[in-house]
Amino acid sequence: MEIIIARDYDEMSKKAAQIIAEEIKKKPELVLGLATGGTPVGTYRELVRMYRKGEVDFSRVITFNLDEYLGLPPEDERSYHYYMYSNFFDHVNVKPENIHIPNGVAEDIEEECRRYDEAIKEAGGIDLQLLGIGVNGHIGFNEPGEELMANTHVTTLAPDTIKANARFFNSEDEVPRKAITVGLGTIMKAKKIVLLASGKEKAGIMAELLSDNAVSTKVPASFLLLHPDVTIVMDEEAAQIYLEKKGEVRA
Ligand code: F6R
Repeated sequence: MEIIIARDYDEMSKKAAQIIAEEIKKKPELVLGLATGGTPVGTYRELVRMYRKGEVDFSRVITFNLDEYLGLPPEDERSYHYYMYSNFFDHVNVKPENIHIPNGVAEDIEEECRRYDEAIKEAGGIDLQLLGIGVNGHIGFNEPGEELMANTHVTTLAPDTIKANARFFNSEDEVPRKAITVGLGTIMKAKKIVLLASGKEKAGIMAELLSDNAVSTKVPASFLLLHPDVTIVMDEEAAQIYLEKKGEVRA
């Protein structure tokens, strides 16, 4: 596991965008797994900037998003469809037919989950998976619990997640209780994983993740300890407790 500690959010975002652009340069038809949420907004901004300068070309890239809220149609501003188009797809040259996001309003949700897994398989699996992390250690919307699911499935959001995501809605009550998410199996089969973490709120979970040697369904991100190619890019605020525990406090 490689750990990169960036000075701040902007530096974290630039580093993450650079890693993604390098992988696309190596393999123009990269299958790219994408995350939403507050953390990767700067990474998308930086990738758009690089695209405009001709530094990266997405014309052959295939994308698969991690998750979508159940019941929010693509045109809903709070949906992850809307987020992805407004932050990224509307500004770069990913071909529409190469964009995949779970459909949160599919008539047959079980079928939608199966279809999504099949599409990932047909594309040859994820080459590079971008991840954020929940305050409770979730990745995608694989929430802590007694067991974790391997494949795409409907998940019930944890109270911590509802609370954290309420900032994107008018109130906590409006946050959908359920989402479609790819499973831990799909994430773990990605050839390379880049996990981003930013801000004080993530310092506790990052310290837990990086200081413990234990893998547990109670901290879904801990499964990343078993993956052969994970890069963590976090800013100093997210790294604070981890560095304190290691005895490396940064002023
Ligand atoms: C988003 C996702 C989630 C977020 C996580 C952190 O597609 O799968 O796991 O990465 O909830 O969200 P932020 O970045 O808003 O703190």
